[in-house]
Amino acid sequence: MLEKIQNALNSLCELHAANAQELEELRIKYLSKKGMLSQMMQDFRNVPAEQKREMGMRINELKNALQQRFDELRAAIAVKETSHDELDLTRTPYPAPIGTRHPLTIVRNRIIDIFSRQGFTLADGPEVEDDWHVYGSMNFADDHPARDMQDTFYVQGAPSMLLRSHTSSVQSRVMEKQQPPIRVICPGRVYRNEAISARAHCFFHQVEGLYIDEHVSFTDLKQVMLTFSRELFGPDTEIRLRPSYFPFTEPSAEMDVSCQICHGEGCSLCKGTGWLEILGCGMVHPRVLELNGIDSERYKGFAFGMGIERIANLLYRVKDLRLFSENDVRFLQEFQAAN
Ligand code: PHE
Repeated sequence: MLEKIQNALNSLCELHAANAQELEELRIKYLSKKGMLSQMMQDFRNVPAEQKREMGMRINELKNALQQRFDELRAAIAVKETSHDELDLTRTPYPAPIGTRHPLTIVRNRIIDIFSRQGFTLADGPEVEDDWHVYGSMNFADDHPARDMQDTFYVQGAPSMLLRSHTSSVQSRVMEKQQPPIRVICPGRVYRNEAISARAHCFFHQVEGLYIDEHVSFTDLKQVMLTFSRELFGPDTEIRLRPSYFPFTEPSAEMDVSCQICHGEGCSLCKGTGWLEILGCGMVHPRVLELNGIDSERYKGFAFGMGIERIANLLYRVKDLRLFSENDVRFLQEFQAAN
């Protein structure tokens, strides 16, 4: 009988079951009332008294080993069956969790799209810039307040290097490399030293544009702006230009679009005025052309610049500017449909 037990123990690892039915067959053969183990228990009665102790221990050992092997086989079958269920090749792939574009990317792409259809190409430049490209070449006087430490982040230890405070620096880089006709837009991130709140941040995004050629007039500027506004906000949109001042344009203007909520009646979005300010623009100052190596007698141009956050706010009514840079997935997912 000892030999029988030892043989059974040795062949334990050869026991296999491919499915529940085979497992049940094994159970009947070894563990059921008529199985091998019960048979041994019966034979145990006839074992001489002096061998009972050792034989009892050996039978127990076999019983535990059999039970353990049986449990292993049952677990393996369970894993096989569930993973088989999960691999359902007929299952529809929807709804699949997809990411969304950032709202500022969506708005930037729309703006780029509208201007590219009017013949503008993209230009890019560094965010860490020198004073010349951000201010000097843009006709800012040496004592202009925007150069003040209040507004501009300067690079420590390199007083003429700074984080660009507008993307006009890219326009300057284009002009120094290329003669007219020039028709570019420059989207990018800009930095200003402002206290962070719901309405201001120390960085934001702009799209600036530049158009230089012979015979470019203020009328061209107005038409390009009107087309842009109607494409972005809808065909009924009106624009209004108010005189303003920028060192790099003359004449300069702030542009408003008619309020899309009240269509000019006056509401809380437009604070009762019927108009929403969206960008600055003007005819490129002849001095800026000269400073950047372009003949101001022969060429004229217009320029404009807008904040992408501002436009996104008008399109999507985002009340707090900080939401744009906090990466809260719940906020970002609201723009899934706008993608
Ligand atoms: N550079 C201006 C700004 O940052 C915007 C602007 C660009 C205004 C071009 C007029 C013409 O506010």
